[in-house]
Amino acid sequence: MTKPVLLLISGSLRKGSYNRMLLAEAARGFGDAEVVEADLALPLYDGDLEEAEGVPEAVQTLAAQIKAADAVVIGAPEYNKGITGVLKNALDWVSRVPGAAFKDKPTVVVSASAGRTGGETAQFMTLSCLTQLQARLVPGTAVLIAGAMNAFDDDGRLKDEMSQKLLIERMAALRAVVA
Ligand SMILES: Cc1cc2nc3c(=O)[nH]c(=O)nc-3n(C[C@H](O)[C@H](O)[C@H](O)COP(=O)(O)O)c2cc1C
Repeated sequence: MTKPVLLLISGSLRKGSYNRMLLAEAARGFGDAEVVEADLALPLYDGDLEEAEGVPEAVQTLAAQIKAADAVVIGAPEYNKGITGVLKNALDWVSRVPGAAFKDKPTVVVSASAGRTGGETAQFMTLSCLTQLQARLVPGTAVLIAGAMNAFDDDGRLKDEMSQKLLIERMAALRAVVA
């Protein structure tokens, strides 16, 4: 049997991003898969740019990766009680690519943030955008990692057992939908 393709989308561009660490944990929880990491370093959405040059190649690549994936996990950090510009920009661009890449795509959103709510508002906003994009949001208990700077050990593993358990359960639910 061929492996499912799991696309990881980090709403933070930072190399040392806690959301990247959380996505790596999610991928381990998902199990055997072909894991692809999206690159959200895209130009800012600009209708004039789109009209003059069309949808940038990097955006087309991202849309194609979403379309080709069996499942998507998004790591949504929180900036100023909202979704990061990086993630919103990517979702806006993808929505401009014909073919509705997210339509019916099994998707889970997880968050790690410095604050005490673990990025709950950003996660809620991301889910709201994904509803508009017609993603198939796989339900479950929200994975919200608060105090992200203290939440991972030196190997990038989640320290809190309850969070680890929730994430594994969530990934099992995602995998079940794909299967
Ligand atoms: C511009 C900015 C705004 C932020 N606002 C929030 C916030 O509203 N809530 C929160 O929990 N953390 C906030 N933070 C802290 C981030 O959660 C923290 O930088 C986190 O590490 C970002 O995710 P990353 O590690 O994946 O890059 C903010 C950080 C930045 C740079």
